Amino acid sequence: MKTLPFAYEPPRIEVLEVGRMNGSAYGTHSESCDTIDGVPVADFLAAHGSPLFVFSERTLHETYRRAHAAFFKRYPNTQFAWSYKTNYLKAICNVFHEEGAWAEVVSEFEYQKARALGIPGRQIIFNGPHKPRPVLRQALREGARIQIDHFEELVMVEEIVAEELIDAPAISLRVYLDAGIRPVWSKFGFNLDDGEAWRAAQRLHHGGIVKLTGLHTHLGTYILDPGAYRTAARKLMAFAKKLKDELGLEIDTLNLGGGFASRNTLHGQYLPAEQVVPSFDAYAEAISDGILDRLEPGQAAPKLILETGRAMVDEAGYLLTTVVANKVNRLYADAPPVPLQGKGPSMKLPDSTPTRGSHALLVDAGVHLLYAANWYRFKIVPARKTPGMPTPTTLYGCLCMNIDVIQDATPLPALSPGDALVVHPVGAYNLSQSMQFIAYRPRVVMVMEDGRVEVIREREDLSYVEQLERMPATRRQLKELAFA
Ligand SMILES: Cc1ncc(COP(=O)(O)O)c(C=O)c1O
Repeated sequence: MKTLPFAYEPPRIEVLEVGRMNGSAYGTHSESCDTIDGVPVADFLAAHGSPLFVFSERTLHETYRRAHAAFFKRYPNTQFAWSYKTNYLKAICNVFHEEGAWAEVVSEFEYQKARALGIPGRQIIFNGPHKPRPVLRQALREGARIQIDHFEELVMVEEIVAEELIDAPAISLRVYLDAGIRPVWSKFGFNLDDGEAWRAAQRLHHGGIVKLTGLHTHLGTYILDPGAYRTAARKLMAFAKKLKDELGLEIDTLNLGGGFASRNTLHGQYLPAEQVVPSFDAYAEAISDGILDRLEPGQAAPKLILETGRAMVDEAGYLLTTVVANKVNRLYADAPPVPLQGKGPSMKLPDSTPTRGSHALLVDAGVHLLYAANWYRFKIVPARKTPGMPTPTTLYGCLCMNIDVIQDATPLPALSPGDALVVHPVGAYNLSQSMQFIAYRPRVVMVMEDGRVEVIREREDLSYVEQLERMPATRRQLKELAFA
C-alpha cells in the first residue's frame, strides 16, 4: 500500500460567515430603546434595580382589544379564556379579566390561582393531563368546564359527578388532529383522526352520567399558518355533526385553544417576525370560516372559546439588564475525531492557539429568566443611543453555567459595564417558567395606562427563597438534648 506524502487531515465543516464587504452587514447605526411607555429606562433601573421586568398595561389592553375585535366582528359568539401558564402574575391576569376574559388553567395551582383572583368556576376552562381528584372534584362542584384528556380522567369525572350528584356539568373532550402542523401535539387528548375521540364520546354517552357538550383542540404554539385553524375548525364541526347524527349530542362549545404567534422570531427563521406573523384578523378569518362553512341550516353557532396566550402578552413584556463585563470569545480549532484503535492514519492534535475572536458581553440577567431564549431570538438593543458600528456579539448571562448564553450574534455597538440593554418581547412564558437557581428573581413592574409605575412582583430575597426549607436537628443536638 502506498503511503501518502502528507499527514491525513480529517474533513471538517466550517460555518461561512456573510462577508461584511462595505463595513458592516448589520448597518452602521444601532437601534436603541430609551423609554418604555414614556418612562425612561434609566429611571426604571434607578428606582427598581437591574435586572428588571417591565410590563406595559397599555399594550396588554390594546392587544386584547385588537384580538377580540378581530373575532367579534366575524364571529360574535367568541369567548377568550386567558391561558394562565403563559403569564400568571395576578396583575397581568387581572388586565385580561377586566377585559372580559375567562381563565384557562392546566393544574391545581392554576385553578386555585384563578379562584383566588375571584374568577367563578363557571368561567374557568380546566385543561391539562393531570387533574388530581380533589381539585377535579372542586372544579366540577364549582361548574368549571372540564376538558377531558384521557380515559382514566373520563372515568374519574364520572365517579365524581355520580358521588356528588352534580347536575349537567359542562364537559368537553380534548382531541388532537392533523391540521397540517408538525409535530402534531399527540401527547394531549384523544385522537380525532383514528377514531379514539369517537370511542371516548361513545363511552361518555353510554355511561349516561355526564353530557358531552364541547370539543377542544390546541394545535401547538407559534403557529404561522392560519389555514391550520380552518382545517381544525372544519374537523371539529364534522365531528360535532357525527355526534349529533349518531348519538343525538348537541355540541354547543368549540374551543380552538391557543397558538397564535407573537412578534418574536424563532432561531433559524429567515424572515423576521414582522414579516411572517399573521394578524389576529387572519386567524379570525380562518377560524370563523372553518366553523361557518360547516354550519347546518338552522343550527345555532356554537360558542367559540380561544385560549390564546403568547400573542396576547409577549409584546407587553421587556427585560432590562445591565452589562457587567466585556469579553472576547476565543475560538479553538475543533479536536479531530478519536481514531479507531490500531487503525487509520495517526492524527495531529489541532493547534491549541485560539484563532478568531468575537465580542461577548456579560450581563446581570441569565437564561433562568429567559426560558424562551431556547427557541426565540429577541430584539436586544442598548437603552441609549450608542455610536459605533454594531458587531455580532454574544450575550452571556450571570449564571455560573456554560449553557447560560442568552443570545449569540446579536448586533450591538461597543458597550461598557453599566450600560443597560432592553430585551423584547419577553412577556410570554419567561416569568412563569423562570427559575431562581443561583440568583434572586428580579422585580417586575407595570407601567399603568395613566403613567404610574407599580411593582407587580417583588424581587426575591434570602428569606423568601428559604421560607420552605427546614433544618433537621443534628445527631449532636439530639444527644445534647438527651443529656440536658
Ligand atoms: C391547552 C393550551 N391552551 C392554550 C395554550 C396557550 O398557547 P399559546 O401561548 O401558544 O397561545 C397552551 C400552551 O401551551 C395550552 O397548552
